[in-house]
Formats: sequence, structure tokens, C-alpha cells
Amino acid sequence: MSTALVILAAGMGTRMNSDLPKVLHKIAGAPLLVHAMKSGAAIDPEKLVIVAGHGADEVASAARDWYDRAETALQEEQLGTGHAVLQAREALADFDGDVIVLYGDTPFIQPETIEKIVAARALNDVVVLGFDAADPGRYGRLVMAGDTLERIVEFKDASDEERAITLCNSGIVAANAATLFRLLDKVGNDNAAAEYYLTDIVALARAEGLSATAVTCDESETLGVNSRAELAAAEAAFQARARAEAMENGVTLTAPDTVHFAHDTVIGRDAVVEPNVVFGPGVTVESGALIRAFSHLEGCHVSRGATVGPYARLRPGAELAEDVHVGNFVEIKNAVLDEGAKANHLSYIGDAHVGEKANIGAGTITCNYDGVMKHKTEIGANAFIGSNTMLVAPVRVGNRAMTGSGSVITQDIEDDALAIARATQVNKPGLATKLREILQAKKAKRDKGAG
Ligand code: UD1
Ligand code: CA
Repeated sequence: MSTALVILAAGMGTRMNSDLPKVLHKIAGAPLLVHAMKSGAAIDPEKLVIVAGHGADEVASAARDWYDRAETALQEEQLGTGHAVLQAREALADFDGDVIVLYGDTPFIQPETIEKIVAARALNDVVVLGFDAADPGRYGRLVMAGDTLERIVEFKDASDEERAITLCNSGIVAANAATLFRLLDKVGNDNAAAEYYLTDIVALARAEGLSATAVTCDESETLGVNSRAELAAAEAAFQARARAEAMENGVTLTAPDTVHFAHDTVIGRDAVVEPNVVFGPGVTVESGALIRAFSHLEGCHVSRGATVGPYARLRPGAELAEDVHVGNFVEIKNAVLDEGAKANHLSYIGDAHVGEKANIGAGTITCNYDGVMKHKTEIGANAFIGSNTMLVAPVRVGNRAMTGSGSVITQDIEDDALAIARATQVNKPGLATKLREILQAKKAKRDKGAG
């Protein structure tokens, strides 16, 4: 059975107190919406429709950035979750299969849970994802009769008896598309909120003799984000899980609570991550690499046996081959360092290719930007770049070539050559003594004037 995902993301998110649409606030470097899209991607949906309202253009383009086939349906006025799903009808006009409704502000639904919903759908016309709430608060309540879900009652409309139910509605619903839209056509807004409730389709389905049931998941999966405090709590929950997973996968985290992961960080077995390391999006670290304290990595690849940091910064496009060493206060951007290359201290390597076993001395800078364009620096295998060399790109340093410390290199250097590009030193015997005498005399004169 083919499946379409409909992700509700039209709400304003008033409590975020933000210009940014709520679903574009990020956890672990990815918008809430993208987390929801990723949960749903597990079942390989045929269609993905985002229902957007507030900030719809921004939401639509963010969705397409992550999945170019994402479609957007506009809900101009937020008249309720049922009304929201109806806005996806046109986008699904030619679609004949199941629809699963997710919320864009609920980032932690596990792929296995969605698989469970799909399995239950094979045996039931309508499936709702519920959870046992520690504090049921204002959630909608699932009214069950055995395994049959009879109806969902919203907190605002519930009797005291119904409010005592702890089995709550996550908001996630699955049904055949035609059934879903047919039932939604029947939903009215005669309720405490004067909204068109998606949840009303359950009672309507039962009244037609259709079957409905609930699948449950852990409450932690249904955590929704409505405020900055909840965003922070969601981030903490994500990080806690990411750390635990990394350690289960054989990664050593010396001080797990201080390591910050992105939604897509991949770290190989027997890698070691020291305290206070931050992984931005797009990082892969191979087995046995060492990421030392206070390093910041994003959009980069670190190969087996490489060492990064302490205090290193790897920016997008940094590619470290096996056994590369990148040391303290070194920044690498859009640069490939071949096997065994070393840049151990205080350097900027941007838009560059560094050959095998090349050694970059302390204070080396690739001057890659002329204020208008970026240019490339090529450093050959086994080259030795003297400390404090400025490599003014575009420039090529040959294999096994050397640069003298303090050189400003503006021309290519052929293989095996030594380039020295700095002022020649001149020594003046006795001149230090003379200069000191002049300066001391000056100071004495000034002190006398002041007194
Ligand atoms: C909804 C459920 C409730 C459930 C709870 C779980 C209904 C009627 N109620 O309540 O049973 O326990 O979620 O969190 O469905 N949205 C739109 N357009 C709208 C209204 C909402 O896109 O017109 C989106 C929101 O942006 C949000 C989601 O739908 O992502 C849920 O809406 P919200 O208003 O938070 O629903 P609740 O009242 O919390
Ligand atoms: Ca809500």
C-alpha cells in the first residue's frame, strides 16, 4: 500500500514569541519540521504534503531544501487540525493510498512507531497514535472499548470522567485517503474551541461501522514544542539520546554531557571524543579518530586515525584523510588534507589541497579571499611550509618544496625548491647600545619636564 504523509505546520506558535515560524526552530541543527519529515521518511512515502500557514513561503522552501519533492498546501486561516488536513486534499487528488498525518512541531516520533501504525492500518480503517501520559493535562483523550477506539474527546469538551482517562492523543492519525477526506467533510465546528477537529473522524468512522484502533508509543516520542523552554527541553532530550546511542555504538565520550551532536552526526566505533566538542550538521568521523577537547566541527569528514584539536575548527568541506593531524587553533574550510598531513598550530587553511605528509608550520595562512573572489592553494606532497607563511592564492607549492618562515608567497614554487620571500636581515654591531642610550636620554628629559 502506498502512503502519503501530511505534516501539519500552519500554526502560529504564539508562545515561541518569534518572527520565525515555529516549525523552523531548530533542534540539533535541523528544523523541527525536518525532524518530523525524517521520522516519516522511514516508510518511504509516495507523497509528502506540508500544510503551512504562518510563514508559509519560508516553511515551503525549508521543506524543499531537505526533500525536493515536498509539496506545500496553504491553510490561510487556522480553523483547526481537521480543516488543516483538508487543505492537502488537492495535492493528493490523484493519490490512492493511505495518509498518515504528523505534526510539524512533534520531532521525536520514531520510525518504528510509524511502522507500527502502518501495520495496524492493515487491519483497521482508522488508526490513532496514543500514549499513556504521566500528566494528561490538556491532551485529547482516547475513549476505548477493548481494542476499539470509539472516539477522541478534546480536553475542553471532556466530562470529568473522560478527563480521568490517561490514554492521550498524540495527534498522529492514519486512514485511507478517500475515507479520511470523506469523513473530514462531515466534521463540524460545534465544540468548545469552535474548530474543525481532526479527532472527530474517529466517532464518525465508528458511526459508519468502520473500525478504529489506537497504537501506543512512549510519551517521550510525542513531546511537542510550543515555547522556547520546550525547545530547550527537546534539545536536551535529543542530545541525551544521541550521546547514549554514540556510546552504544562504541564511541568513547570522555564527558558525554558536554558533547553536542547534530541530527545527522555519524561517528565510527572506537573514535574518542573529548570534553566540550560541538558537532554541527554534516559531520562523519571514522573509526579510531580522536576529537580532542573544545573542537567545533561541521560539514566535514575525519578519517580513521586522524587527530583533531584541542581547540580546532573544521568548517564545511574539510576533508581529513587517514592519520592527518589538525592541532590547536587551526581552522580548516573547504580543504582536503591527504594522508598524514599535519597542521598542528594556529593556522587557517581554506580552499586548499594539502598533499600527503605535508607539514604546515605554525601561523600559516592561506590568503584565499581577495575581497571579491575565493582562490585555491595547492600544497604538494611532503612539502614543508615554514612558520608564519602567507600563501597568497591562487598559488601552488610543489612536492617536497619548502618555504622560509615569514614568507609571503605570491608565485608558484616548483617541486623540490625552497622559496624565501621576506626582507633580508641586516645586523648593525653596537647599534642596540646606542639606541638604548638615546631612548633613555629622551625618557629622562620627559620625566624632568613632568616633575
Ligand atoms: C491536538 C489534538 C489533541 C492532541 C494534541 C497533541 C485536535 C483537535 N486535537 O490538540 O487531541 O492531544 O494535538 O498535541 O486535533 N495546526 C494547523 N492548522 C490548524 C490547527 C493546528 O496546522 O488550523 C497544526 C499546529 O501547527 C500543530 C498541530 O496542528 O502542529 C496541532 O495543533 P494544536 O493547536 O497544537 O492542537 P492541540 O490543541 O494541541
Ligand atoms: Ca499542541
